[in-house]
Parts: sequence; structure tokens; C-alpha cells
Amino acid sequence: MNRALDLLQPYPFEKLRALLAGAQPPADKKAIALSIGEPKHRSPDFVAKALADNLDQLAVYPTTIGLPALREAIAGWCERRFGVPAGWLDPTKHVLPVNGTREALFAFTQAVVDRSPDALVVSPNPFYQIYEGATLLAGATPHYLPCLAENGFNPDFDAVPADVWQRCQILFICSPGNPTGALVPLDTLKKLIALADQYDFVIAADECYSELYFDEQNPPAGLLNACAELGRSDFKRCVVFHSLSKRSNLPGLRSGFVAGDAEILKPFLLYRTYHGCAMPVQTQRASIAAWNDEEHVRANRVLYREKFDAVLEVLGGALEVERPDGGFYLWAKTPVDDATFTRELFEREHVTVVPGSYLSREVDGVSPGANRVRMALVAPLAECVEAAERIRNYLETRQG
Ligand SMILES: Cc1ncc(COP(=O)(O)O)c(C=O)c1O
Repeated sequence: MNRALDLLQPYPFEKLRALLAGAQPPADKKAIALSIGEPKHRSPDFVAKALADNLDQLAVYPTTIGLPALREAIAGWCERRFGVPAGWLDPTKHVLPVNGTREALFAFTQAVVDRSPDALVVSPNPFYQIYEGATLLAGATPHYLPCLAENGFNPDFDAVPADVWQRCQILFICSPGNPTGALVPLDTLKKLIALADQYDFVIAADECYSELYFDEQNPPAGLLNACAELGRSDFKRCVVFHSLSKRSNLPGLRSGFVAGDAEILKPFLLYRTYHGCAMPVQTQRASIAAWNDEEHVRANRVLYREKFDAVLEVLGGALEVERPDGGFYLWAKTPVDDATFTRELFEREHVTVVPGSYLSREVDGVSPGANRVRMALVAPLAECVEAAERIRNYLETRQG
């Protein structure tokens, strides 16, 4: 077997299961899971219809590069959403469909890393665990940048030593972040592009939460905005990862895209052809319908906004927690060790959260997830509010 498999960490949910094993939650309280990262709002009916209307495509082998119509719809969406001047994103070169960003982040890392012994892949810490597993299986070493409250939950990129940038082959950024919800500011994105040029690495921007934000007048900037503002029409060293999972409540469709540097996407397409990850045609057709509609996305944001407002009101004063820049997570500070908090909350209130230390790695004695928990507001409003009330109750009785 591939010995790199031994390097993979158990997934955070496995660790959570072990933590809660044998715990006895109160039988009279219904379980509420704030631990899952799965969108739970209703999938749009028109997308389901487009999928059903195209089931005759089951008889067709899809191509890895995807339908021109899908790549055109995606390029159009990027132009509208990220201020990319018309014509810069050539759908034949700068866009590839992927079966969700998870698959794409993993495959991209395999295609990009050159397996030199000193290869580093740099990522935020805490982070989405696929970055780490993909790095290890690609034969590179993960290098983690702590995302701490004092730096707005973003990495302090200025503090990264030159030798790390020299060895860096891929820089993962996640904006808005999972679990922190922090946005990487536009100026920082521009600075990172300059660093990528200086040290010759690729920026892989995981923006799968980019459509979940609070101010309708101020959609968060992404790496494509930075390219547009810099006049970087070739998107050199820049690749963005987007998904319909969160934007459109379609985690089961498995549909997203990568867009950016054509010189990277061309060999990535070759890799994908061998990997065997073409998107089924019916999925592509349904995806076109989803990328061409914003009304359902606005309605989706309204639901999240209501939940953040209501939950933060209940938790205010009881727990140190702030509204994130985007995404659907709260990244709350715990008054006790995060694993203890998680287990006690489950035992007393039947509410499940994820300990922050399960989502981060300890480096030089610092674990940026320690004494924090991640809470996903994916359940319906009433359930999220009830969970918040139970958390409040747990904290008050604990103090009492
Ligand atoms: C940060 C981050 N990136 C990528 C993904 C993968 O999402 P999908 O494959 O559904 O696009 C997730 C899913 O939870 C995530 O949290």
C-alpha cells in the first residue's frame, strides 16, 4: 500500500465520535447537530427539474472538459460576480468543471506538486482537512499558518519566512474561511499575488463559501477581483475553487468549477482525464441553470442572516462569539478546554459542536483551534435558536 496513507489524520468527525462515545445525553432533549458542515436549506426546484429533464444523458459518456455551455455560464458568472472584464476568462481555457471543490482541491494538489523532497504546501490553520491529506498524498509537507483572533483570524502572511515561500508550491487560502468565517482582504490577495510571482508558487483560493455573506451591497472580493484590479488578464499562478454546494444548497449534486491560469488548467485537465472525474452531462445541465440564477442565492442568504441574528442575540453575553465575515459557521471561544466543552454540552443539552482543536494542528506549542468550537448554523431557524438557548443554559448552569 501507499505508505503516505499512514500519514493521514482521522477526520474531525471520527475524533468527535470517539469523544462522545459512551456519553449519555438527556433523553427528553432532541439531538441538535451544529457539528455538520452540510447545507440543509431546500435545493432549488428548478435545478432538480433541469436534472430530471436531462436524465436521457445517462446514456452518454461525459467529457472531462465539460460542455461549452457550462463553461460559458461559469465564465459569465465570474464576470458578473468578481468584476472580471468581459473576454478575459476564455471558457475554452480558463474554466474547468469539477465534481465539487473537495474533489478538485485534492486532485489539483496531486497535479501541481512536483514531489521534490523539500516541497511545501502552505495552508491556514485551522483548515479544511482535505488540504492536508492532499498534500501528504502528493508527497509534500504541509506548512500551517496560524489564524488567530489578533490578526482577524487570517494568517499573518508578513510573518512567513522567505525560505518557506521559496519552498512553497501551493498556497491554500480559504475565504470566507472554514471554520473562522474570516475573509482574506482584497489588498492581502494582491500582496499574495506579488509573493507568488516573486517565489513562483500557485495560489489555490478555496472560495466555496463566497456567496454566503451579510451585506447584499458588499459581496466579498475573491482572487479573481484581485486579478481584475491588477490587470492580470492571464490569471497567472491564480486558481479559484467554487461550488454549488453552499451557494445553491446542492451538496448532493457534486458540482463546482476551477477557474484561472490556463497554463495550470491545461495540465490539470490532462490529470483529470486520467483520474476519471468527468461531470455527468445531466449534472452539467442542472449546473448551468443554477449558475445563471441569483434569486435563489439571495433567498438563501436571507435564511442564514436570520439565523445569525437570532443565534447571536441569544448567545450575546454568555459566550465570546462574533458574527463572521461570511460562511455559515460561528467560531466561538470556550470558557473551558474545547473538548470538555463539547462533551459537557452534549451530555447536558444534547447539542453537538466540533472542538476547534480537531480542526487545527498544534505548531510550536500553539493550537489555533484550542478553546474554540465550530458551530454550523445549517439547521432550521427554530432549531438553531433552541440550540443557542441550550448552550446559554449550559454555560449559566456551569457557572452557577
Ligand atoms: C472549506 C471547504 N472547502 C471545500 C469544501 C468541499 O465542498 P464541496 O466539495 O461540496 O464543494 C468544504 C465542504 O464542507 C469546505 O468546508
